[in-house]
Amino acid sequence: MSDSNEKKIIIAIDGYSSCGKSTVAKEIAKKLNYVFIDSGAMYRAVTLFCLRNGLVAGGTVNLTKLPEKLESVHITFAFNPATAHNDIFLNGENVETEIRQLAVAQNVSQIAAIADVRRLMVAQQQEMGRTKGIVMDGRDIGTVVFPEAELKIFMTADAKIRAQRRYDEMIAKNEKVDFQEILKNITDRDRFDETRDESPLRRAEDAIVLDNSHMTREEQFEWILGKVEEKIKKHG
Ligand code: CDP
Repeated sequence: MSDSNEKKIIIAIDGYSSCGKSTVAKEIAKKLNYVFIDSGAMYRAVTLFCLRNGLVAGGTVNLTKLPEKLESVHITFAFNPATAHNDIFLNGENVETEIRQLAVAQNVSQIAAIADVRRLMVAQQQEMGRTKGIVMDGRDIGTVVFPEAELKIFMTADAKIRAQRRYDEMIAKNEKVDFQEILKNITDRDRFDETRDESPLRRAEDAIVLDNSHMTREEQFEWILGKVEEKIKKHG
């Protein structure tokens, strides 16, 4: 599978909030020795930039100032051997922890809906996939970023199950959380992502649906790996 003569493909994983896309995408990339890119982290990094530069006031983005400021946003990834994670850097600063803050989560969907932001991110994402051998997860990877991707997966799961998983994760980190609040955040973000004008979340016609509501992490990993093997055989 990691034979260097084997033809490398592009794997696009899209889907709803909190259904474990990044977790499985990272595992698949590791197994194949491919690059893993969490495109959501890129939108989160732009959001952090906007918050730090006073471009968000009272929950509203300053659309007049944003385009010129965006020119100074440079996002890169670098592998962190200590955590085996591809950390994200905003203008040279590791912002892996900061982008997971609540303030970022609360504003990211709004910023990800702005056409100028998407243009910039999509161009960078396409450049990252130029030599293939990449697994990228997000909302528009199979539809806009890599419409020619050899393998497209569309992940979904019952909203209550997704909320329960996120709730358990936060409880394990000793965070004080309310189940109904998490469920509302997940369903609100889904609705926002699906109904926006710019690159809305939708399944690409040639994407394979994976509903992982009743699957373990191992089962879904094996399921995707099976699809990857079929595609590599076909395209190799
Ligand atoms: O919390 P979760 O891991 O589900 O979200 P994320 O992947 O970190 O993405 C954060 C937000 O960025 C999403 O809710 C979308 O609004 C936006 N996003 C997007 O518009 N397009 C992408 N390709 C990836 C994320």
